[in-house]
Amino acid sequence: MTETASVAPEPEAVGELYDRLLEAELEGGAFDPNLHIGYWEDPESDLPRAEAVVRFTDQHVDRLGVGPGARVLDLGCGVGGPALRAVERTGAHLTGVSISAGQVAHANRLVADAGLAGLAEFRHGNAMALPFDDESFDAVMAIESLIHMPDREQVLSEVRRVLKPGGRLVLTELSERAPRPAVRHPAVEEFCRVSMLTLADPDAYVPMLHRAGLRLRLFLDITDHTVQRNFRDLAKQIGDVDGLLFHPRDLVGVHEVGCFLAVADRP
Ligand SMILES: C[S@@+](CC[C@H](N)C(=O)[O-])C[C@H]1O[C@@H](n2cnc3c(N)ncnc32)[C@H](O)[C@@H]1O
Repeated sequence: MTETASVAPEPEAVGELYDRLLEAELEGGAFDPNLHIGYWEDPESDLPRAEAVVRFTDQHVDRLGVGPGARVLDLGCGVGGPALRAVERTGAHLTGVSISAGQVAHANRLVADAGLAGLAEFRHGNAMALPFDDESFDAVMAIESLIHMPDREQVLSEVRRVLKPGGRLVLTELSERAPRPAVRHPAVEEFCRVSMLTLADPDAYVPMLHRAGLRLRLFLDITDHTVQRNFRDLAKQIGDVDGLLFHPRDLVGVHEVGCFLAVADRP
């Protein structure tokens, strides 16, 4: 068991979900270039969520070990915010891939507007069968994206294939937490169902990385810096909106969702 879920996410449906979310954001005028949680060194600090989100990106970018001229893949790239940050922070060339065609079009516009089109490009593709040659990249980052993929081991094998020998993977996952409850809280079930995601199983993760041909360098539980503060801030931000399929306030105080960061190399 490498994950728990009632239903494995189906990539095409995940792509359509993100297309719809992007359209809704653009219509509502609330476009956010980052689609992941925040990182608070001190979860009780008054650091605004927008800044914490960029710090979460930096947890990945600063561990890639790349500089100008390197080629980096952003696996499950969203609308391009993290890739842009990686370009600015490292000078590397970023290639993003997403299963959402709408996100890809938007991300390409974002880098063009930032005058960085030569340093980043985005493609529509499925992480289960990456549209890249063997040994194309010096590093891969996957920020909260494997949660949506139906077979993590297959994705990690693809990552190994496209990494150059010595290349590095940095990823984050939302995960289960120990001790696992006999019955999951209904809000966790609903969160996973509506968001089309599965929580990773931390106990099974390192063997899976190794089976995929990657060598673990770091496995870090960052739950206390991320999850609950994130749900709290999002719940406040969203407020009393009715009719949402899922509201983050339902997960405030429910300590069954964790978050870990892993770094692994292709030997
Ligand atoms: C939570 S978002 C994170 C986006 C981005 N990494 C960020 O942090 O802003 C998950 C991303 O994974 C992508 N994704 C999910 N399943 C995928 C798949 N099978 N192949 C490629 N991308 C996928 C989604 O399209 C989306 O861009």
